[in-house]
Amino acid sequence: MTNLFDPLTIRSITIRNRIGVSPMCQYCYEDGFSNDWQLVHLGARAAGGAGLIIAEATAVEARGRITPHDAGIWKDDHIPPLRKVTRFIKEQGAVPGIQIAHAGRKANTHRPWDGSSPITMDDPQFWQVVGASPIAFADGYQTPQELTAEEIHAIAIAFRHGAERALQAGFEFLEIHAAHGYLLHSFLSPHSNHRSDQYGGSFANRIRFLLEVIGEVRKVWQDHLPLAVRISATDWVENGWTITESVELARLFIPAGVDVVDCSSGGNLPKAPVPVGPGYQVPFSEAIRSTGVMTAAVGLITAPAQADQIIRNQQADIALLGREMLRNPSWALHAAHALRQAPPVPPQYLRGF
Ligand SMILES: Cc1cc2nc3c(=O)[nH]c(=O)nc-3n(C[C@H](O)[C@H](O)[C@H](O)COP(=O)(O)O)c2cc1C
Repeated sequence: MTNLFDPLTIRSITIRNRIGVSPMCQYCYEDGFSNDWQLVHLGARAAGGAGLIIAEATAVEARGRITPHDAGIWKDDHIPPLRKVTRFIKEQGAVPGIQIAHAGRKANTHRPWDGSSPITMDDPQFWQVVGASPIAFADGYQTPQELTAEEIHAIAIAFRHGAERALQAGFEFLEIHAAHGYLLHSFLSPHSNHRSDQYGGSFANRIRFLLEVIGEVRKVWQDHLPLAVRISATDWVENGWTITESVELARLFIPAGVDVVDCSSGGNLPKAPVPVGPGYQVPFSEAIRSTGVMTAAVGLITAPAQADQIIRNQQADIALLGREMLRNPSWALHAAHALRQAPPVPPQYLRGF
């Protein structure tokens, strides 16, 4: 029976255990450039024993940033500081991953500690946001400019260029962000997509943009490297994107070259009633995994036995932790002790474990 500390091989990459650091925006970058904070933040969790370290939502174009302080990968100059990060993570025996993203209609807001509110037109940090349809995310948010088919294609190419740069920066695991109400999710959901062209209406049309992005990315993301997509498995509202559609989509992912579906939920409607609780998104991972694709489970996974159970019960192939990793960067080392497994302790820390 597979447990949390068994290695996982996807294509030619072997991850030393099933513990991953979920992508988490740090909002502390200038012009998208990685910096010492990112190196130390991700590096500490690699030294802390996690097998997979996924760098946060990293914008494929500048207007696709959630805040002006997001990480970016829209120009070649972004590559060298990211190389430092991937090199250190690999030196610690972990696999460096990155999430490439476009925030769509939820872009151009202040960072959380500056209030998270949308940036107003009179602010020098304002830019026009874009989306599937001219429907604002919530009161006070910008009404996005509806993308034309040509502009949609240009963004798919921007994802491809982002993937190419991620490769050059040394990442070995790539995740396309199609969750949480950001651009790609906003095309999937009938709530945010009211288009009448080939990108709106039917299921086949709403998923078209995401499949085009996957196709562009797979042209450059090498065959021996794993590709993941994070989706919101449900919008949690009537007439929204559903788990049934997520399962349908997952069936199409495998032939498209996607190896892992990272199963999150919500984020596209501000007032959706989300029943948050321990492991509340795990059933989505289990349902999607039944299609044969590998999955990552995420969402209030905090205890070692809980994460181990998810893997043992074959509800997911990877357990991703977000906030618990912020509280405890060495979570994986502690979990190994709790589960009586050999902890991957760096020699510098041996006397502490
Ligand atoms: C500070 C912070 C930043 C986050 N940034 C991202 C992100 O960049 N991309 C993403 O897909 N999810 C992001 N999330 C969501 C997490 O990846 C994770 O899915 C969520 O926090 C639930 O997991 P948890 O209960 O273990 O924290 C963020 C969460 C937090 C707390």
